[in-house]
Amino acid sequence: MGSRGDKRVLEANGRAVLGIETSCDETAAAVVTQTGEILSNIVMSQIEEHRPYGGVVPEIAARAHVDVIDGLVARAMEEAGLGFADLAAVAATAGPGLIGGVLVGLMTGKAIAAAAGRPFIAVNHLEGHALSVRLTEAVGFPYLMLLVSGGHCQLLVVEGVGRYRRLGTTIDDALGEAFDKTAKILALGYPGGPLVEKAALRGDATRFALPRPMVGRAGCDFSFSGLKTAVRRAYESLGDAATDQDRADICAAFQAAAGDVVADRVAHALDSVAQDYPHTARTLVVAGGVAANSYIRSQLEDVAGAAGFALKAPPPRLCTDNGAMIAWAGVERLSLGLTDPLSTPARARWPLDPAAAPAPGAGVKA
Ligand code: KG4
Ligand code: ZN
Repeated sequence: MGSRGDKRVLEANGRAVLGIETSCDETAAAVVTQTGEILSNIVMSQIEEHRPYGGVVPEIAARAHVDVIDGLVARAMEEAGLGFADLAAVAATAGPGLIGGVLVGLMTGKAIAAAAGRPFIAVNHLEGHALSVRLTEAVGFPYLMLLVSGGHCQLLVVEGVGRYRRLGTTIDDALGEAFDKTAKILALGYPGGPLVEKAALRGDATRFALPRPMVGRAGCDFSFSGLKTAVRRAYESLGDAATDQDRADICAAFQAAAGDVVADRVAHALDSVAQDYPHTARTLVVAGGVAANSYIRSQLEDVAGAAGFALKAPPPRLCTDNGAMIAWAGVERLSLGLTDPLSTPARARWPLDPAAAPAPGAGVKA
């Protein structure tokens, strides 16, 4: 913890950005300096509140954000050893996400910016994920980004701050959502991703033949809803007698199928980036909660390696939703003079590439 007199604080004074994130089921606040030092990064998860329902309940999420946001921001500032007046700017997620939750963080950020007389920056949550790798590593533009979370599944070329080209998106479920639904069908618990991964370790991936939607097709779009239906059918075929081993085998088959889909789609994207961007640094960046999955990660390493690309991922605590990625997006935008009026609205839908067709997993799911 810093005190107002220490050197770190003096250096950060006027060069740090407060970032606030409330778009889904994590309330988060962080202070990051313009040189990328994370002075504080506090994430409060609502998993326990939502667990009885097996998924995120929007009203419960919004209320839970309201309950904790003030205290959380105060803690983030205290840990950073700064007062609001010491900040260079205040950044908050303005969408996409659950609108009730987005409003809580957005209003809080605006109020602090107004009271402290500091610039306000309205951050697209997806831009937060897209730029977070640059907080910990020197990755230059353009790079290919695979964003795989509970709500999003897309492949984007990050050409620069605020400049994104979507190469592919899911046309139905997000990858994390497919993991969560598989866990729900098998009654493993919530959130499902880590539970499916754990069960898959004990499973035989070859026992159940599951489909690989989109594999072999042109382009980079994903689809997971057919895979989820196949998981349900496989499970139902076992009747009431399903054992733990049966469930583990289905998890292994699901994960193998999902991994094949991801590898195939990403391979297409790598090809098109290599062709369209001759000066790319040949970096594939993966972020979002599913990036924590070791199997998916190893598939990505293989496919990136085969195309001559390096796989980079932010550390796990910056891969899942957090305030540091919002603060950092704020730092990047501030350095380009990109600030926003206090009248900026909250947006349930906010795709990063406005020219791409609307799709469920690309920032347009309400
Ligand atoms: O990025 P995130 O924390 O929140 C958003 O959805 O924005 O991602 C959460 C998602 C959930 O669907 C969760 O099941 C999935 O990421 N996830 C995983 C793993 N850990 C988290 N999926 C597969 N394997 C994992 N180990
Ligand atoms: Zn997210």
